[in-house]
Amino acid sequence: MLTFLAFCARAQDAEVRPPFVATPEEAVDRMLALAKVGAGDFVIDLGSGDGRIVIAAARKFGARGLGVDLDASLVALSREKADEAGVGALARFEERDVLKTDLSSASVVTIYLLPSLVDQLQPKLLGELQPGSRIVAHAFPMVGWKPDRRESLRIAAPRGAQSGESELFLWIVPAQVRGPWRVEGWQMRVHQNFQEIEIELARDGRPMTVERARLEGREFEFSGPGVSFRGRMADEAITGVMVAGGESMAMTWTRP
Ligand SMILES: C[S@@+](CC[C@H](N)C(=O)[O-])C[C@H]1O[C@@H](n2cnc3c(N)ncnc32)[C@H](O)[C@@H]1O
Repeated sequence: MLTFLAFCARAQDAEVRPPFVATPEEAVDRMLALAKVGAGDFVIDLGSGDGRIVIAAARKFGARGLGVDLDASLVALSREKADEAGVGALARFEERDVLKTDLSSASVVTIYLLPSLVDQLQPKLLGELQPGSRIVAHAFPMVGWKPDRRESLRIAAPRGAQSGESELFLWIVPAQVRGPWRVEGWQMRVHQNFQEIEIELARDGRPMTVERARLEGREFEFSGPGVSFRGRMADEAITGVMVAGGESMAMTWTRP
């Protein structure tokens, strides 16, 4: 039997839309857990099939959600299933192209789509989602953007074209912190590649060593010998607490 992956390889060449292949229920649960979906979230499933991801997010966590799919019959089926599950008010479905879907209100986006479509979506995801939003993909990762987490899940009873294993990927949208920053007496330059950062730090013009730096959404921290900072990026400022030479000080970095 032609597997979904093999079909996708062929579909990539032929520029055709792949069929609806559902994410197995245990993988849906794991995707929602990876994204830490809660009642405050708005989940968008891009290419929502029978609506199972958005419906599960509403049913299990009380999250609002939107599923979009090009296939009108799947959109109608999803609406029926949402009503049957009693979550019709939380889980909406629309017939729409994923590339024409406004993502700005989502805090979680889920994807199980062809690699070529995933590639086209990457600039939209980075441009429209707020820092700290989570993206979870099934089967196909984004090229060039290293996932924050990656998992393989054994599927107990794979169906039809499904393989016995689901690959899942999580990304947390990083704040844009690249470039120079200053606060009185301190200078910092951040080098950024998605969520990976390196820091050049100086105090009164004297370089200091930074050995570890981490960016997760808006949360920003670094440390080195005798120095550590932990803060949060918002409104073009990074506000937090610096500990240096045994002294702790509140600090707000701004762009020069
Ligand atoms: C592999 S299925 C995944 C379904 C569901 N997200 C899940 O994980 O169970 C992909 C779905 O994306 C839809 N799709 C493919 N290209 C699309 C596009 N450009 N815009 C909207 N939906 C699309 C297909 O109709 C199909 O239902």
